[in-house]
Formats: sequence, structure tokens, C-alpha cells
Amino acid sequence: MKRILIDSDPGVDDALAILLAMKSPELYVEAITTVSGNIHVDQATENLLRILGLLKMSKFPIIAKGEDKPLVKPLLMAAHVHGEDGLGNVSTLYNQDGSPLYPTIDSAISDISGVELILEMVDRYPDELTIVALGPLTNIALAIRKDPIKMRRLHAIVLMGGVFKEYGNVTTTAEFNIYVDPHAAHEVFSSGIPIQIAPLNVTHQVVLTGERLSVETEGRQGLISSFLRDSTKACMEFYRQHVGFYGLHIHDALPIGMLTHPHFFKSIDTHVQVETEGNLTSGMTIADLRDSRQEKTHNASISMEIDADAFLNHFFNRLFHQD
Ligand code: RIB
Ligand code: CA
Repeated sequence: MKRILIDSDPGVDDALAILLAMKSPELYVEAITTVSGNIHVDQATENLLRILGLLKMSKFPIIAKGEDKPLVKPLLMAAHVHGEDGLGNVSTLYNQDGSPLYPTIDSAISDISGVELILEMVDRYPDELTIVALGPLTNIALAIRKDPIKMRRLHAIVLMGGVFKEYGNVTTTAEFNIYVDPHAAHEVFSSGIPIQIAPLNVTHQVVLTGERLSVETEGRQGLISSFLRDSTKACMEFYRQHVGFYGLHIHDALPIGMLTHPHFFKSIDTHVQVETEGNLTSGMTIADLRDSRQEKTHNASISMEIDADAFLNHFFNRLFHQD
């Protein structure tokens, strides 16, 4: 069983990842910290409470609100993709009696910051805790700045971010999580902490179409099923208009799969750097993947291939019943 802390900017695909993690017996989600990215961290934290409200649990992970803006750049958000509330606008849905269709849990938000909770959890589980980073890396970079020695006691950081040899999803060269806070990403990749990366190269191989979602949720009662339908509508419509199909990539679910089902993935050890200053290439992740490369040192393992069908079947098996 792996102890993890999830750092996230929920975010529709973050929600799917958090549900998958909470339903994975291989993982124990000790804590969840939020960060500005898809949506402002205040809203992201409310969204997290709403996501956890879908689960019938007596004990929830410790929750702490993290940073509200990147280290240097102004905050870029993605409400045009994830909806005005960052969660497909499910916060605007109500039952006939006027109660919220997807209520938030009344679990307390920790009175310490996300950065402090990260350091506290590393302290509590030295050499054992893995951070799963699903948004911009601002919180993690600040935790490293605050106590670099302690953060080296992390078992690993498994993150969704970056792209190699292919186009980005924010600019032609950069993926959103890295683009939003390239300075934080640079500090995390330079920290010496073992890093595993799910870049767009592999997340773009897993497509959840509207049709597949309908098939999987048809006739199925329960809040998770209706939440999957309701929360993804806005995102799928964005994809229809701007990406060319009615569906979405479940980017953030993949790092969860890398932890529980590594055999679904094929990875390469390499040395990843981040462009922080480029006018045209800010946020670009660079790794020498040439066959002739003569790299001496590696700082990350990047997943470039996945058994997409197996992963998507596993995703639904876990969400609707444990396989
Ligand atoms: O580029 C995809 C990433 O950016 C995902 O984490 C998504 O939630 C957004 O944060
Ligand atoms: Ca995210």
C-alpha cells in the first residue's frame, strides 16, 4: 500500500483522478492540497470538498489550501475548458427540494497552508510518501525552497505535465501545468527528488468519448455516475468545438494508474529541463530523446506509451466497482 499526498487544481480531470485514487486499495490518500491552476485555489478547494462529497467515507484525507498564484508569472486559468466553477458548473445543479445535487463535505480545511502540510506529511512519512501532482507545481516548489533537505525524504513525485516532441495544449510548445508556473517546474525538476512524468504524449492516448461515457453510465444509479455525466459536459463541448471530437482526455487519472498499474505504461529515463524565459517557448519541457543521446544523468522517468484500452476499462471498473 502506497501513502500519497495529492496536489491538485480541480479541475474536471483532477476530479476523475481523485475519485480513482480514493477507490484504489493500493493507495492511501493521506492528504490533498489545492493550488491555483484550472481555477483559483479558493474555488479549487470548494471543488475538492464537492468531489469528496461523492464518496461515502467516515474519514477523509487532510485537506489544505495552497498557493493562489505562480512563483513569477501572472495566473492563467482554464475556466473556458473546465467551466466557470472549474468543475463543469455542477455547483449550479440542485435537487427539487433546493438542496445542492453535489454537496460539499463539511470536513474542515486545515488551518495550515498547503506548503506546510506537504512538509508535515514528509516529516510524518519519511522515505515513504509519494506526491501526486496534478496541477502547476507552485506548492511543491515552495516546499522545496522552505526545506530542501526534508523534501529529499520524499519517496517520489509522480506528476501530470509537460510534452516532448509533440505540440503543447496551451502554446505550440507548452503543456498547461508547466506553462502556468515554469519557474516552479524548473525548481522541482532540479531538486534531485525522483520524478515520474505523465506528459501529453501519453495522456493524449487515453480518450474518454461522450459515447463511451454514455455506455458506461447508462442505467447506472448513484452520484458518481451522474457526476461523471454532469461534470464533463462543458469540457466535452469545448473539445467538440476546439479539438475535433466530443470527449476529453482524462490527463490527471494517468499518474494514479502509474502508481497502481505501472505495467500499463512504458517509460524512458531521461534528463528534463524547463524553459522559463523564452518569449515563444516559456513552459517548454526539454529532454534529449534522440537514439544517439549521450546523457550522463537522469532526473525523471517519462511515460511515453500506455495500454489505453486496458487503462480506460480499469478506470471504469474502479469507479463503479473495484476490479
Ligand atoms: O494539461 C493538462 C493539465 O492541465 C491537467 O492537469 C488539467 O487538469 C490541467 O490542470
Ligand atoms: Ca489538473
